[in-house]
Amino acid sequence: MSNSSHHSYQPYSNKPGLCIIESKEGSSFLGIRIESASFPTSISAIQAGIVQCLMYDQQPAVIFYDDPKLSNLEYWIKSLSLKGEQVSEQELNEKATKLQEYNQQKLDSSTLNLSQISNPNQTTGLTSVKPIPLEVFGLSKHSKDLQSIEEKTNKSHPIFSKIQMEQFKQALVDLCKLAICPESNFPVGALLWTNLGVFPGVNVEFHDWSLGLCAERTALISALSHGADTFFGIFVHAIYGDFSTPCGACRQILSEHMLFSKLYCLHKDYTWSEYFIHDLLPNAFHTDFLAKY
Ligand code: THU
Repeated sequence: MSNSSHHSYQPYSNKPGLCIIESKEGSSFLGIRIESASFPTSISAIQAGIVQCLMYDQQPAVIFYDDPKLSNLEYWIKSLSLKGEQVSEQELNEKATKLQEYNQQKLDSSTLNLSQISNPNQTTGLTSVKPIPLEVFGLSKHSKDLQSIEEKTNKSHPIFSKIQMEQFKQALVDLCKLAICPESNFPVGALLWTNLGVFPGVNVEFHDWSLGLCAERTALISALSHGADTFFGIFVHAIYGDFSTPCGACRQILSEHMLFSKLYCLHKDYTWSEYFIHDLLPNAFHTDFLAKY
């Protein structure tokens, strides 16, 4: 249901929102609109571009857009003192395609090595929310492997080894240190396992509380912007949450993208609990119907 070129997700309105945020440091971030069957949980293209820029610890400076009706355009330009650059649809699409290709190449050549995290007393060395290659966690992108995972799950065997769970734990703990949560001081980290890699996300807050996004959704934004289209599982940790569990908005969004995948929650005492997403939002408002009409 994604826009084939840039992976925006707009199955209901079919309006592909798109922008590019350029940072003061000179990097570019793709902002794609991610629609939800539940209106207010939709993520606007600008929000998606800005949170990625901030998660990468960079300052948004310029916004390239083609449609002046983009959600909250004026607000974002004013509140973050952005330079607005309106370009033609074709120019924006070309820029976005190049950016996505570049990001995917970077993914392929990524050499991030988290091997030392099998030692529980060390940190992962995870100092940014950049995507992590699947091999680092010993994961696979092949569906036949996933089938066997599914079989194992049904027989209630653990899918992951102890070492893998330790790696996820360490990565989540380190990730929380990168959360941008000046309003709540409640850091959350998420790792989204996809066909292209493991995409980290942290919660990003703004002075306007309603514009902030949870770690689960920033991970999804990053994954979709890089072109990932299959979501196998998500790992979540809130440092101060006695019991880490996704909010209602995240349950809605996750259920639209990975209904039959699993969520692994790491709690404050470092115990885990796991759920199928569809069990977390029973009888969710679902969308296949909507998309047909
Ligand atoms: N938060 C998440 O990142 N994920 C959740 O599932 C629950 C809540 C964030 C949002 C906000 O930045 C802070 O935690 C407090 O609600």
